[in-house]
Amino acid sequence: MSAGLLERRGRRGDRIFDELESSPFEPLAEPPRYPPPRAAVDPDSAKSWLRRALPLLRAHRALFAVSLTMSFIALLAQVQIPNLIGTAIDRSLRAHAVPLEHYAVLIGAAIAIREVANYVGRRYLLETAYAIEYDMRNEIYAHLSSLSFPFYDRVQSGQLISRSNSDVRAVQMYLALAPTVFVQCAVVVIAFVEMFTINVPLTLVTMASLPLTFAVAVAMRKKMFPVSWLIQARLAEVATIVEENVGGIRVVKSFAAEQRQLSLLARAADRVRWSYEKDADIRGTWAPTIENLPRVGLAVILLYGGLLVLHGHLQVGTLFTFQAYMLLFQAPFRQLGMVIMMGQRASASAGRIYEILDERPEVVNRPGAEDLGESAREVRMEDASFAYADGTPVLDHFQLHLGAGETVALVGRTGSGKSTVARLLNRSYDVTGGRITIDGRDVAGLTLESLRARVGVVTDDPFLFSVSIRDNIAYGRPDAPLEEVVAAARAADADGFVSRLPKGYDTVVGERGYTLSGGQRQRIAIARTLLVNPPILVLDDATSAIDVQVEQRIHASLGRILEGRTTLVIAHRLSTIALADRVVLLEGGRIVASGTHSELMESEPRYAQVLARIEEDDQGPEGSA
Ligand SMILES: Nc1ncnc2c1ncn2[C@@H]1O[C@H](COP(=O)(O)OP(=O)(O)O)[C@@H](O)[C@H]1O
Ligand SMILES: [Mg+2]
Repeated sequence: MSAGLLERRGRRGDRIFDELESSPFEPLAEPPRYPPPRAAVDPDSAKSWLRRALPLLRAHRALFAVSLTMSFIALLAQVQIPNLIGTAIDRSLRAHAVPLEHYAVLIGAAIAIREVANYVGRRYLLETAYAIEYDMRNEIYAHLSSLSFPFYDRVQSGQLISRSNSDVRAVQMYLALAPTVFVQCAVVVIAFVEMFTINVPLTLVTMASLPLTFAVAVAMRKKMFPVSWLIQARLAEVATIVEENVGGIRVVKSFAAEQRQLSLLARAADRVRWSYEKDADIRGTWAPTIENLPRVGLAVILLYGGLLVLHGHLQVGTLFTFQAYMLLFQAPFRQLGMVIMMGQRASASAGRIYEILDERPEVVNRPGAEDLGESAREVRMEDASFAYADGTPVLDHFQLHLGAGETVALVGRTGSGKSTVARLLNRSYDVTGGRITIDGRDVAGLTLESLRARVGVVTDDPFLFSVSIRDNIAYGRPDAPLEEVVAAARAADADGFVSRLPKGYDTVVGERGYTLSGGQRQRIAIARTLLVNPPILVLDDATSAIDVQVEQRIHASLGRILEGRTTLVIAHRLSTIALADRVVLLEGGRIVASGTHSELMESEPRYAQVLARIEEDDQGPEGSA
């Protein structure tokens, strides 16, 4: 953090500077310090969007009630002011019946009440609004975390991010603002009643401009809302392009495609500008009307009320009061028009949020699901069939047996379904036919938490978080002591290069771990899984980016680690296959051969073919890496 910021913080000891300085990355071992959301959206999708959102508002009803009461009081006090001034004009200035100070004090008191009530009301209104936003955002995120891979195969992450930002905001604003505006309009109605008791025709004249104000506000919003949607959408477009540019900067640069990307961005930015100009156009057209409507109203009241005064039917002070009322009532009516339009937007936003919330996770703990014990060992895939959502079958009555403590290598062409087998073993997906058992128990009847703790899967392109290497390795066991982290790293042959980094295990890796090489990332990922110490281990091409000498060192230590562990090695190279007790060949969604490497080489021509193919494919990327 910059020295300037530190200095200022030292001087002021301001909480805001503390917050600015705190890192967004928290040590993973720290227990969560955030309160859970107070309420959730009503799950009954037959209800209207507003009724489903009401529990969110209800959870903060005390705060919200104070806010509404205060804004009611504030407007009530404000309504007194024109009345007091009007009476002061008539009774102090003209009739000299009451001393002027009397009214001055009363007006001062009304202003003070209004000020305080306004402050408290607004403060609590915003607090309610942000509390709703907090609850909703947490609920969406919690729900997203509960959804399974088939869902993530379908959706775009940009969409999800926008739903948890602009859509949440639209719903939150409406929920908090609409009741407030309705309360303010109620005050206006009360004031009308008072005005009617003074002078009926003048009240009608005063009121005449208000429906017009309302109508103009609605008309303007109607024009503006599509444009503000457009602005949102186009800003999201720009954000996506920037994100892809930054995320894919290595690809962009290696193809010298900066200019092309730049013109993509320029086009998107131009579209943003165009929509902002449209917005300015509409505001420019309508703003004068909205500003001048009250002035026309003033003229009409002056003309009609003035005539009444001239003929002695009305006091000058009352005329002033009515004029002031008319001005005072503009804002609530304008806001009423706005809130009605906001309602449409909030309803659309809520619809999109509910679409996520109504999504049911496909892979779940069944009722009565049981924990898988720590000593789980033997794995069977019995007649397992599987197809992804697009319907293409990947596995077809697949049979695989991993005996307790056995290391089996799974070999097959690219796209033959090897990674799919790995994903089925920890129930990233559920089989569509047949079953998978561990120690004779169907995995479908086990809790996901226990299953995933016992079946460790390391993939070839592991994701690392932008936290320290230590926290990355300890991801599955945040409380693991440093010695164990180092031991896991040593087993994965990561200790050497980590220790050579200037900050060692405290080095924070760049986004997705891109400051490390592919092979280094893979070694961290292996250490991460070894630290959890799962009795069943699946290595899905987990050493594909690691060079041969290093791989041999890992194998030496893996050899010890795999001892007694049931392991499925999805093999890529002969040296990896050599680790296995037995090799199985996957083709056409089935195991077509099984035996030791040398047995298969002799007896199974398809095995030799597949290996040759893999070696061939391998020459390209591996040779140049
Ligand atoms: N998430 C997915 N959604 C749809 N199809 C997929 C998905 N993942 C893989 N596939 C398809 O399933 C087949 C098997 O893929 P995979 O198990 O990754 O093969 P391998 O690991 O043997 O290269 C491929 O045809 C692939 O295109
Ligand atoms: Mg694969």
